[in-house]
Amino acid sequence: MKVVLFVLMAIIAVSFAATNFVDHRSGHIVIKPTESQNSKLFLKGSAFDKVSLKNINDVQVSNIITHVMGLLPLNNEEVSGLPAASIFNKPKLNLFFSVESVSSDDLVNSKIFNSESMISIEKTFTPQDLISELTTIVTGVTPNVHGIVSSNWINPTTGHKVHAYEKSTQSSAANIAYLANASFNGKSMIISSSADKKSASATGIHTGVSSLYKDADIYTYSVRPSGSVLPIFGSNGNDKLSLTNNQVETIIYSKEFQQFILPAGWKATFSRGIFTIVDEKGNVNKIDFDQHETGSFLTELVSVFNIVKTIKTNEHFKALAADSIPDFISFDFASISRVRESQGANSDAFKFALALVEQTIQSTITQLSGVYGDRVACEIVALAPKHAFTEEQIEKLESIVGEHTHDITETLPHIYVLPESSEKVDDICQQIQSSIPSELSAQCFIHTLPVSFLQDASGSAPAPTQTPVPSDSDSSASGENPIIATQNTNRIAAFQIFLFFPIVFALFIGGGILYIMKISFTAQSDTLLYRSSQRQY
Ligand SMILES: *[C@@H]1O[C@H](CO)[C@@H](O)[C@H](O)[C@H]1NC(C)=O
Repeated sequence: MKVVLFVLMAIIAVSFAATNFVDHRSGHIVIKPTESQNSKLFLKGSAFDKVSLKNINDVQVSNIITHVMGLLPLNNEEVSGLPAASIFNKPKLNLFFSVESVSSDDLVNSKIFNSESMISIEKTFTPQDLISELTTIVTGVTPNVHGIVSSNWINPTTGHKVHAYEKSTQSSAANIAYLANASFNGKSMIISSSADKKSASATGIHTGVSSLYKDADIYTYSVRPSGSVLPIFGSNGNDKLSLTNNQVETIIYSKEFQQFILPAGWKATFSRGIFTIVDEKGNVNKIDFDQHETGSFLTELVSVFNIVKTIKTNEHFKALAADSIPDFISFDFASISRVRESQGANSDAFKFALALVEQTIQSTITQLSGVYGDRVACEIVALAPKHAFTEEQIEKLESIVGEHTHDITETLPHIYVLPESSEKVDDICQQIQSSIPSELSAQCFIHTLPVSFLQDASGSAPAPTQTPVPSDSDSSASGENPIIATQNTNRIAAFQIFLFFPIVFALFIGGGILYIMKISFTAQSDTLLYRSSQRQY
């Protein structure tokens, strides 16, 4: 009986692996709009001169970046149409931007997001969630591999809500920042910043082991509710780019910051916490620094400005930029999505905010290109707004699921059936599938039982001791009881990061000596091997 059960579960697990279902994380039911917008990709810098892509899959975006940086790819989804990476002129900086919640309609008048160079990012998975999609873009794998099914989720067996990118809910797959760190022996400068902790974690390095940061130049920052800009994991080594609330305000007053974020012909003044902007036609918009939503929008821009300025002027950072080891910097603009959600895409507030973000991106590219002698490859991802369910759709779904689920307005597109109604999952799902509005579709999933439950039921030996996951003080409100599945995925992560790369390198060196010799002969100085052996020239 036990064996049959296990075989059955293995089959279930394998068949679901092909979808984007993540056991113990995804909803029992996932609602999918039949039509949804694609995110857009824009490539800047001479490394991309000859690229004329129109479409790319979400899992392929990372391959463009690894290709120009001369890194091994994170998956084997080859992208056709990429020019041979120039050995002599490899970028020394990869600059990655993501802007959350902008649709292509929002970008019609844009200079930097111009439609000729717009590449559509085709989704290879559902459901849609910005953190989940961003993670897919920077890891090159779908949620069933990286495990970030959403910005937060409910553990279907315990009923507890958890947030992505806490200690026990990290991505199980390495992203480009980890790859750059591993490939360049930890000598790269790696910076990531966002108003949103999850977005900064998704694109940067987010491990909780602070000793790894001690001597490394790894900086991952987010904006705190207090208004300050602080490292995501506190450690002595990586607070060089921190800003207190007062420092943020001082920067907002400065002409230099205002020039950095304002398009040509615009003016601004800052007084009593109100940042007043006048565009070139005389239209006025006010941003309240003391209100959390708009304040964090301004602070996010301040953080970008401060990082760029520090790289230009601080001796330590100047030296890092000048050395031969490529760097990876990512800026995510998260708070603009809250402006769009609360004020609407047609509001002045959103239009002004988008213009400021664009100018900030433009200034960052220009100034860092100066620092890096134009050897900058830059990718900008405009993440499409998440599907907004209408009140009608929500009411319809609520009338079907009744009292058996967690509040679906909090969890859509996932629907989690309460543990006490778990035997009704099938019924509820069938009802949804048969009466769902035609513009939506529903997928149903069965979660496996936790291993401990199986062992208790069968009376066998207790589960092997699990190392308890220390609770993150930052995440106490959202702490998940560490469950076995999560720990398994953490082990997969450790494998990918600490074992996967050495193995690939061994294969690369053992199997490809000829290939390496060829590179060394043609390139003499500027190859991955030279650079990762710390040679300075
Ligand atoms: C970065 O790379 C170095 C050298 O490979 C390694 O020791 C360190 O653990 C890495 N850091 C992270 C956060 O992965």
